[in-house]
Amino acid sequence: MSTLIINGTIINADKSILADVLIEDGKISKIGTNLQNDFKDNKIIDAKDRYIFPGGIDPHVHMHLPSPAGYSADDFETGSRAALYGGTTTIIDFVTPKKGQSLKEALIQRKEEAKDCQTHYSLHMSPIEWRDSMDAEIEECIQLGLKSFKVYMAYKDSIGLNDDVLFKVMQSIGKTGGVLLVHCEMGDEIDELRNQFIEEGKTSSKYHPLSRPSELEAEAVKKAIDLADRANCTLYIVHVSSKDSLKYIREAQVKGQKVFAETCPQYLLLDDSKYKGNFEETAAYVMSPPLRKEADNNALWEAIQKGEIQTIGTDHCPFNLEQKRFGEMDFRKIPNGAGGVEHRTSLLHTYGVLEGKISLNQLVELTSTNVAKIFGMYPQKGTIAEGSDADLVIWNPESEEVISSKTHHMNCDLNIYEGLTSKGSAELVMLAGQVVLENGKLTAETLRR
Ligand code: URP
Ligand code: ZN
Repeated sequence: MSTLIINGTIINADKSILADVLIEDGKISKIGTNLQNDFKDNKIIDAKDRYIFPGGIDPHVHMHLPSPAGYSADDFETGSRAALYGGTTTIIDFVTPKKGQSLKEALIQRKEEAKDCQTHYSLHMSPIEWRDSMDAEIEECIQLGLKSFKVYMAYKDSIGLNDDVLFKVMQSIGKTGGVLLVHCEMGDEIDELRNQFIEEGKTSSKYHPLSRPSELEAEAVKKAIDLADRANCTLYIVHVSSKDSLKYIREAQVKGQKVFAETCPQYLLLDDSKYKGNFEETAAYVMSPPLRKEADNNALWEAIQKGEIQTIGTDHCPFNLEQKRFGEMDFRKIPNGAGGVEHRTSLLHTYGVLEGKISLNQLVELTSTNVAKIFGMYPQKGTIAEGSDADLVIWNPESEEVISSKTHHMNCDLNIYEGLTSKGSAELVMLAGQVVLENGKLTAETLRR
């Protein structure tokens, strides 16, 4: 069955064109004008006054993430459905092995957890320790097609790496040509601050951001860049939140080091005033890194405009209020993370494109094209071109909503964007040529899957 989209404006990272798109066997087979005259027997979709985006690719989500307060609120099924509502057709999650577990065994287990995923998905592998076989295990991942890895400099009591292990992992990935994602926060120093606050009886959530200052993110960014340079390893710094970090990223990029940077909508649009209030008002914002100052928001927008930040992910990792209560008496125990997979494109459209900070083409570049390029999916994904996958979003730029946990599709009773107005939404979403969302709603067939 073939489908023809007519009258829409195709938005790619490099240009926008008014053209028809013919889809056959899950791929884009032709792009041109007046295709309707030649192809009469197709299902026709009229995209007049609409944009056509390549499906969004979210490089950073955590579905079904274990924590002492239970699993994060979205599993692969619910979280990926929410992603489709937001125009994201591919998510990249993580494999986090348990101590002693082989990378391959952990990968098999994670794939089982992801089996009901409703979008395309891919995984970054997270080595949490070093052992003699690690070089070979990393090489095996590469052979299996898993070319991106993620390590944590924070969370030293569980999955965080010490510098010597971090360097060994970088050397190993450097040899294979993979990409290393790093969560940059100085773990030991942060743990010290956290413990000090608790000893002083400072237990509330407002101490979460104070225990993870911007300087400790920047210091970790600098260290990761230096180590990656010595190890000849391509670096991708996740969820950059602070102005201070940007300085080191810029310097490395200028001297030609392969360093990519990602930020998230929460670090562009929200600030640390959200930590003023009682537990119920502030717990949703407990995430790492924490929200920063308005000056940081502005510096991140500027870095996006200058091309110093290449991607925008969500770090989607929602927890319900009851789960957050696990740390009501001790902020160290509040599960870290917030949901956002559903709102990435509409927030960036509203507060980026409509406010003149980025163009529509940059929106596509940041949320799809660059992600596909960095993680080896391009040009199959990340662009609207003949031969590419028909993962497409028909975007209505005029629709408006007020974001609320009462109406969102994420499986969580908190929403960090509660009350914000967003303009623009996914009206139709196509996954490998199949319509999975129509008139802003998942199709009956998608819901049955
Ligand atoms: O607070 C966050 N970001 N939670 C998810 C795990 C991580 O650190 O990325
Ligand atoms: Zn994360």
